Amino acid sequence: MPVKTDKLRITVQRLGTRLEELGELGAIAGGGVCRLALSAEDGAGRDLVMRWMRELGLSVSIDGIGNVVGVRAGLEAGPPVMTGSHIDTVRTGGRFDGNLGVLAGLEVIQTLNDAGILTRRPLAVAFFTNEEGARFNPDMMGSLVYVGGLALNAALATVGIDGASVGDCLNRIGYAGPAPCGKPEVHAYVELHVEQGPVLEAEGITIGAVEGVQGISWTEFTVLGVSNHAGTTPMRLRHDAGYVACAIANKAREIAREMGGNQVATVGAINLSPNLVNVIAYKAVFTVDLRNTDEAALQIAEQRLHSFASEVAGAEGVTLTNRRLARFEPVDFDPSTISLVEATARQLGLSVKRMPSGAGHDAQMLARVCPTAMIFVPSAGGISHNVKEFTCPADLEAGANVLLHTLLQLAS
Ligand code: GLV
Ligand code: MN
Ligand code: MN
Repeated sequence: MPVKTDKLRITVQRLGTRLEELGELGAIAGGGVCRLALSAEDGAGRDLVMRWMRELGLSVSIDGIGNVVGVRAGLEAGPPVMTGSHIDTVRTGGRFDGNLGVLAGLEVIQTLNDAGILTRRPLAVAFFTNEEGARFNPDMMGSLVYVGGLALNAALATVGIDGASVGDCLNRIGYAGPAPCGKPEVHAYVELHVEQGPVLEAEGITIGAVEGVQGISWTEFTVLGVSNHAGTTPMRLRHDAGYVACAIANKAREIAREMGGNQVATVGAINLSPNLVNVIAYKAVFTVDLRNTDEAALQIAEQRLHSFASEVAGAEGVTLTNRRLARFEPVDFDPSTISLVEATARQLGLSVKRMPSGAGHDAQMLARVCPTAMIFVPSAGGISHNVKEFTCPADLEAGANVLLHTLLQLAS
């Protein structure tokens, strides 16, 4: 006789305690977390989550890029229904981005363990290496390697913002594992994540059934000009790298404003040399992050930006080079898995809306190999990648219950 699971619910206090405990590792002022990928803090976070996985009886494996997968056997063998996310953070991260998806996965496992319920298919909870891309590019690196979208050797050779390589850092924290990557067998993947934007809160809706992830284009520009005295050099004789960087940054914003729709543009990192008040900068290195749900529109934004960049560099007499840090086309999730998330939320009496994701997620890589969808819960004030990131316990509970029942359906 199959066990009735309709009334089954997760325990939000337990989920909250784990979020707090993990949030202590790499804690920074203001209640946030700095656990950059493959740092010592990330290593400590991994050790803790691995310990929890083992305590819950999962069989844990680590692959060559440091992705960790914990599997709970089902009544039948075969590819697991998987959930998960990431536990690395940006330097100014919060406690929920990524961590929620992983720890809600563990909470689902614990709920099933306590109720003595075995699913037909195996269940898996994963955390993927370097989702954020804040230290090593591209973002979603671990899940990209996991699905075979990036060769393991190329990923291991990647050098980060501090000059260290992925391979060396993985070895240092002891997370270069033996499990193979590149050809995973996964029945379906569903990831719970905080929205990281303002829509759900503003509309008073508890659950987002995520339809897909917008396209991401990251470029690093380097401008080389000539340094000189800020007071004595006439404007017409300057080759000012700082000016060119600022003009391109300004243009990126102007393009996004003019295009409208879902086009966004951000210059999040900029470094001038020698970076002094009275010296014209000879060098500027800066990044541009362009995103759009529409691939054709994203390509137009890229073309407009690059053509302006060449023009302004030529006019100022500086050299301009660029390097692509990340480029992913928009991803559509699986229609029937999106519908399942939506229906599950409704069955639990929760308000739900379909929506795109503005942020990148490991789910967009898993979508290459199996039916995939995501569940969003509101972010207070729409704030994320910031120590103030917060989602209230009632919303954490709602999201984790939608995850529980979506996984149960997929695994039955
Ligand atoms: C990852 O968090 C991203 O969307 O930048
Ligand atoms: Mn995330
Ligand atoms: Mn993030």
